[in-house]
Amino acid sequence: MTALSEVPTPALILDLDRLERNLRRMGERASSLGVGLRPHIKTHKCLEIARMQRDLGCSGLTVSTLYEARVLAENGFDNLTWAFPVVLSRLDEANQISREVDLGLVLDSMEALRALEASGQPFRVWLKVDCGYHRAGVDPESPLARELARRLDDSSRLHFEGLLTHAGHAYKTESRDELELVAEEERSSLVRLAEALRDEGIEVPAVSVGSTPTMSVVEDLAGIDEMRPGNYVFYDLMQAHLGSCSADDCAVTVLASVISSQPGTEHCVIDAGALALSKDSLSVGDGDTTFGEVLETSPRTRPTTTAHVRSLSQEHGVVDSDLPVGTRVRVLPVHSCLTVACFDEYVVVRGDRVVDRWKVWRGR
Ligand SMILES: Cc1ncc(COP(=O)(O)O)c(C=O)c1O
Repeated sequence: MTALSEVPTPALILDLDRLERNLRRMGERASSLGVGLRPHIKTHKCLEIARMQRDLGCSGLTVSTLYEARVLAENGFDNLTWAFPVVLSRLDEANQISREVDLGLVLDSMEALRALEASGQPFRVWLKVDCGYHRAGVDPESPLARELARRLDDSSRLHFEGLLTHAGHAYKTESRDELELVAEEERSSLVRLAEALRDEGIEVPAVSVGSTPTMSVVEDLAGIDEMRPGNYVFYDLMQAHLGSCSADDCAVTVLASVISSQPGTEHCVIDAGALALSKDSLSVGDGDTTFGEVLETSPRTRPTTTAHVRSLSQEHGVVDSDLPVGTRVRVLPVHSCLTVACFDEYVVVRGDRVVDRWKVWRGR
């Protein structure tokens, strides 16, 4: 068994105690709110974590790519939702996977509906609704929303699974009150549409919502059947900033080494650049941009005021502290989903002990 101090850098470190706690807590939240939990696995892309989620009783899993769906299907998972507007050039592949496991597809256009109908396959289909993010999804007040729902309900081939949304605009909120409002808007806009459709005689089997920020604060999910948070397994600097979690809940960090530190300068360079941390950034208290917070250094060279990664190139990260070459640091990433997708494996730790290595299944 290796000690963390012996792990070559850069490495993606996963704190197993924190992961277990995050999984348990969101499971308890879903049960107490009376909804199923269908976690989005795009955050972790990891079979071991998907198994933990299944063992904790999740109702199914959400994926963002057909590759994720295929890996899960080949490893004994069933009941998957590909929560991404369906890619029409991949219908044959979606069909193959659908023959092996239950796979829900998502659409928000008449073009996609016609293509699915023309395929002649009995696809399971969710209607994607825009609850305020304005990225994808039909306007819940629009005639198109009603038209697509009616055509899905009437279809002799397709199975209408229900309404699905994702409140991505929660990431733009600046206070807990604002976040709670977005969570309520996510719920109420979908419930209103479901009621209107049911009043018109359209059967809406389920209503699915979910982002980590909204699901971490929501107190009422009346009318909702399932939640689909993904990032909650690890959280990150962005989530701590939004108030979805505390810094102590963040379960992945990037272990890096100082590789250059020039006399007379106030910065050093680490071996974790954009291809380790991603280019997602955050404005922090001092008005500056951070690409990651330096959580600890080893050996402890000085009591640090908080250090941050301030700029990135492909493999270099520039930290605003003049730490000596050879110092090892742990960086809390701004966006754990993108950070994880930069690595091939997790180094799984309990405290300072490496207890396992888990593959990150990257692909499209
Ligand atoms: C459609 C959909 N559902 C659920 C999620 C999970 O949200 P989060 O990453 O905030 O947990 C996402 C994330 O992008 C998404 O796009």
